[in-house]
Amino acid sequence: MFNSDLMKKLSNCFGPSGREKNIRELITNEIKDYADEITTDPLGNLIVRKKGNGKKILFTAHMDQIGLIITHVDEKGFLRFSNVGGLKAKEMLGLRMVFDNGLEGVICKEELKNNEKLSMSKLYIDVASTDKEFVKKNFRLGDMCVFKSEYYETEDCVVCKAADDRIGCYILIDAIKNHPATDNDVYYVFTVQEEVGLRGAKTAGYSINPDLAIAIDVTATGDSPDGIKMDVKLGGGAAIKIKDNSIITHPEVKDLLTYLAEKNNIKYQYEILEFGGTDAGAIHTSREGIPSGVISIPTRNLHTSGEIFNKSDVEECIKLVIAAAQ
Ligand code: CO
Ligand code: ZN
Repeated sequence: MFNSDLMKKLSNCFGPSGREKNIRELITNEIKDYADEITTDPLGNLIVRKKGNGKKILFTAHMDQIGLIITHVDEKGFLRFSNVGGLKAKEMLGLRMVFDNGLEGVICKEELKNNEKLSMSKLYIDVASTDKEFVKKNFRLGDMCVFKSEYYETEDCVVCKAADDRIGCYILIDAIKNHPATDNDVYYVFTVQEEVGLRGAKTAGYSINPDLAIAIDVTATGDSPDGIKMDVKLGGGAAIKIKDNSIITHPEVKDLLTYLAEKNNIKYQYEILEFGGTDAGAIHTSREGIPSGVISIPTRNLHTSGEIFNKSDVEECIKLVIAAAQ
């Protein structure tokens, strides 16, 4: 059964890259009764261990979400900003944003000259106040905000913000709670700063130095009119990554995940993503090289305030993670 309350909490928790404190606390609370060891490394990665004497296996899901950072507060009280993670100016106009303190703003644009293209420098946030003191007191260079977007679900799908990668966090939380009997030494790591360049995964991969690493993250789909050409679809099951811009999955890891899916009747599909990357990209080139792969959750509208995934795909991903842990 899909735990809507948990997913809703994960999606709504404030945690853009570099500001993962709240989400780290939320996840720690969820799993603290199930772990043998919980640590936070200096960069902020949350490392949850289920001890064993066998192979060292690392699973990662990133805790951070995309957002915006204030670069300048002008005399009139309008905020200028830059992106934290992959956001496009043309997809941001009119969106409501929310800050850590609960205050909000709406993204507006300057008047454009003939044929001028909309760029981030033409956008600003209006925080709905004519009181300059209020703005000065509450908004400062370096403050971050994220999409304001209400969680919604149908019988089979969920629409929410930050499904990338809170759905990956959801999957790892469930796997920790249902950790299988095994000799393996298993690390479930909730990484920081994936959206700005796989930074948390880099240090986690190095320090844990596993025999096998598997990242859990969203991937795009080719099943809507948005023009992305790829084979992955919602409802097609767990996606086993073959390649993206950060990794070519180790053939033995691809074969292992395929074997496990077939043996356990787990619905799966192969994935090639022609853009983007995941934590596995940083981990597989760590040290002498770490055999790595990715289990992806097919998701529409990536990096928007309304990412959509299918609940049954999530169940298949959980089953595959547990099988791999075993
Ligand atoms: Co992302
Ligand atoms: Zn992601």
